[in-house]
Order: sequence, then structure tokens, then C-alpha cells
Amino acid sequence: MRIAISGSKGQLGLALQEVLRRAGGIGDALLLIDLPEHDITDLAAITATVEEFGPEVIVHGAALTDVDLCEREPDLAYRVNVLGTRNLAVAAQQSGAAMVYVSTDYVFPGREAPYWEYDRPEPLSVYARTKWYGEQIVRDLLSRHYVARTAWMYGQGPRNFVRTVLRLADERGAMSMVTDEVGSPTYALHLARALDRLVRVPAYGIYHLSNAGVCSRYEWACEVLRLAGREGIEVTPTTNYQRLARVPARVELRNAAGEAIGITMPPWQEALAEYLKRTGDHE
Ligand SMILES: NC(=O)c1ccc[n+]([C@@H]2O[C@H](COP(=O)([O-])OP(=O)(O)OC[C@H]3O[C@@H](n4cnc5c(N)ncnc54)[C@H](OP(=O)(O)O)[C@@H]3O)[C@@H](O)[C@H]2O)c1
Repeated sequence: MRIAISGSKGQLGLALQEVLRRAGGIGDALLLIDLPEHDITDLAAITATVEEFGPEVIVHGAALTDVDLCEREPDLAYRVNVLGTRNLAVAAQQSGAAMVYVSTDYVFPGREAPYWEYDRPEPLSVYARTKWYGEQIVRDLLSRHYVARTAWMYGQGPRNFVRTVLRLADERGAMSMVTDEVGSPTYALHLARALDRLVRVPAYGIYHLSNAGVCSRYEWACEVLRLAGREGIEVTPTTNYQRLARVPARVELRNAAGEAIGITMPPWQEALAEYLKRTGDHE
């Protein structure tokens, strides 16, 4: 299958390349879309590039993912996350490709009960709003689309929560972490595996694809340190972390659509153990 990946240098993009290129993976030929070579905000250039390649599927992961930066630079967030998505959706239309749009649990405002795929979003921040607009564009322009909402992703790359916890342990020997932010830590490689399976099935629509289970940032940090053999590091539970963007207090994504076609994801603790084992981050 010919697959275009936007955001190919990001956490998910790198994981997708690993999965799709592996024996049995579905990607015979990949078009890698990322800055500076390809800018999704340039409609003429991106549609020409995509059309020339002729993908059967576009997995669209490129985005401005720094939620505080989005809050500071809403025009830029709109240009990349909304208009960039429109441009790739047009490119998909012109080349007859299906599209996977990777979205976020942050489209929801947070509550106790799990969110089902077709629950109504109510984004709290600029980032979340632009991702929600992106979902709507893809749904409006393309009948053959998958919206894959995920959460709290970590994988290859210089920045992620797991790396931050280990760095704080090394540099300070202690840290504070909030108990009032709850979500599902999700290993990019597991999401990539789920997407590799999803694009083989023409069951279009919305999917919630995160590792199973939820925890607070505090519990996540403690588990990182435990699995890395760093139990001696003190983690102080705290609340009300001050940041520019408002983030939901608790989002649990109910993966009903994926389960119905046999696509499930392992518990977040298992995923974290696999990540740490593979990367040797804790050494
Ligand atoms: N990370 C999470 O916790 C999380 C949670 C839920 C959903 N998601 C969604 O999952 C997707 C993948 O996330 P990720 O963590 O893999 O993101 P990431 O590591 O930040 O990667 C995104 C990539 O897109 C690139 N990009 C930005 N603007 C671009 C443009 N105009 N043209 C082409 N490429 C551009 C970025 O380049 P630069 O680095 O140079 O900007 C980066 O390489 C995103 O759509 C995100 O919204 C992420």
C-alpha cells in the first residue's frame, strides 16, 4: 500500500515508519511529509507533492502540538492545525486517498465517566479547538476518513513526559507532579500498530486509540521511576499546575469502535515497561 505520513519526524511519524516498513507492515512505499522539506500550510506545494506520489492512505499526524505555544500563537496554530489539515484533505480528495486524522483526547473538557467516540467535543484550549476544527474538516471533505483520537503520547524524540521525569530525577533527585490531571499515557509504537491494522479495514469513522486505563500525572511519574529502578526519588503530589492552556482534568477514552473490529491496545503500564526496555532510557 502507498502511504503518505505527515509529521513523519514526530513521535508518531517515527513509530509509523518502524511499523509500516517491518515485514508484514502494510507500507510498500512511504511519502514522508515534515518540515522543512514539506510544509502542509502550502496548499499548492503539498497537493502537488501528494498527487505526484499517489497515496492510497494519508496518515495525518503533523500538527503544532505544544499546547501553550498554541495559546500564545493562535494564528499559527490555526494555520497549521486547521488550514494544514484542510490542505491535506484536499490533497486526499484529488488523489482519491483515504485519510487517518490523528486527533486528541483534549477535544473533551474532562469528566468522571469515559467518553465514547461520538460524544460531543467541547475543547478548552486553542490547541484542542484547532484539532476539533481539523476533525470537522476531514469529516466534511472526505467520506473515507478515520479520526483517531489518542492521548498523552510518548515515543522516540527529544521531548516527552517520560524523558522529563527521568531528567528531573537525575538533575534534582525529586519532583512534584499533579494528581488533578488524569489521562491515558500512550506509547506511539502501540498507536502505530493499531493504525497499521485500522487502515486495512474500510470501517471509517471515529476511533479512540489510547493505551488502556487511566492515571494521574503523579501516578505516571511514580510508575516511570519504579520501572526504571529509581524508587528512591521523592515525588510530591500536588494540584493546580499553572500553565497558559487549560487542559481537561480527566479524560478516559472508551475504545468501543476499535474493539468492535478487534483493535485493542495494552494497558498503559505494560506499554511503559516496553518503551523503557526498548529505549534503555533509564540507564
Ligand atoms: N503528543 C501527544 O501527547 C498527543 C496526544 C494526543 C494527540 N496527539 C496528536 O498526535 C499527532 C502526532 O503527535 P506527535 O506527538 O507525534 O507530534 P510531534 O512529535 O510534535 O510531531 C509533529 C510533527 O509535525 C511537524 N509539523 C509541524 N508543522 C508542520 C507543517 N507546517 N508542515 C509539516 N510538518 C509540520 C513537526 O515539525 P516541528 O517539530 O519542526 O514543528 C513535527 O515533526 C498530532 O496530530 C497531535 O495533535 C498528540
